[in-house]
Amino acid sequence: MSTDLTTPHPLQACWDLQLAGLAADALRVALTIDLFEHLEQFTAPAQLANVLDLEPFNTGYLLEMLWAQGLLERDEQGSRYRNGETAKRYLRRSADDYCGDALLFRHQVLRLAGQPLEQALRNGLPPAAAPGPEMAQRWAEAARVQIAQEQLAVTVDVACALIEHLPQAPRLQRMLDLGGGPGLVAIALARQLPDLHGTVFDFAETAAVAQENIARAGLEKRLGIIGGDLDRDDVGSGYDLIWCSSVFHFAHDLDGLLRRLHAALNPGGVLVCCHAEVPDDQQSAARVLPYYLHMRMQGRHVLPAGELAERLRGIGFVEVQQQDGLRYPVAPITAVIASKV
Ligand SMILES: C[S@@+](CC[C@H](N)C(=O)[O-])C[C@H]1O[C@@H](n2cnc3c(N)ncnc32)[C@H](O)[C@@H]1O
Repeated sequence: MSTDLTTPHPLQACWDLQLAGLAADALRVALTIDLFEHLEQFTAPAQLANVLDLEPFNTGYLLEMLWAQGLLERDEQGSRYRNGETAKRYLRRSADDYCGDALLFRHQVLRLAGQPLEQALRNGLPPAAAPGPEMAQRWAEAARVQIAQEQLAVTVDVACALIEHLPQAPRLQRMLDLGGGPGLVAIALARQLPDLHGTVFDFAETAAVAQENIARAGLEKRLGIIGGDLDRDDVGSGYDLIWCSSVFHFAHDLDGLLRRLHAALNPGGVLVCCHAEVPDDQQSAARVLPYYLHMRMQGRHVLPAGELAERLRGIGFVEVQQQDGLRYPVAPITAVIASKV
């Protein structure tokens, strides 16, 4: 026989895409019923079903599927399950790095984003709404729960590692976290660099969430907030560091904003931007493009690979460097680091 029958059929690529939706539903249900909270020890399906008041056979099938997806471990007899490393750290509600609410939020938003695809193709999507009180309120709610969980579990580590390696790190005194959401990155950087003072800029409603977190961290003397619209309002000045992550997508005049950030930096100051770009290679593009499809169809910016670095050089930034494929919430990003002379 010339065909190796164990080689996946070419259609398997399409079936895998469809099956991913079902696996996502299994994760959604498991999070909704707090299943991972009850799997610290090896547990039989019937035992778990009893505790959570579930149907025992179907509980077994769901556990087996979550095991197959790599979220659970199974004992040698293949009859009892417990949390794998990812579930232990991020999916138990009692875990410090719990991300269940963020994952449920993402699930819902991604499903909703898929629904109007045909309409988007035929007629286009209405452009993203201009910032208003309703949008600001939605961002504030996201900052309280979903963005906060993702900052703690993912973003803070990336930010601390990037800033630690800056040659300017020992001299950084004033920082702006532009569009900083709940402010947990600013808080982590302030803890990492004892001389650092800073400001979290965001819509007033979201900046208020950051202020609560700053107070809870006991950092009111070193960190403050500015509430405003980054398209229109003054972001302050005299900064040695501007941290800006997953925010440029929402700016209406990106070049204008970049020029204002250049002006807001002190001489020798550094801008660190973390944003998704559209990768040139297929493998990286497959991880980035699904997440940003809806946003791009609404007219939000997701720049082609390398373009942010070019634009920054064009407006006078120097020593512009970039690092691609950094781990980040939902999809990898590119860090672009640029200095002011
Ligand atoms: C995707 S979140 C990123 C939050 C944070 N920088 C991070 O990476 O975790 C985008 C943030 O930008 C803020 N934002 C979006 N448009 C804005 C605008 N026009 N003015 C001020 N903040 C804005 C949102 O409120 C939100 O906190």
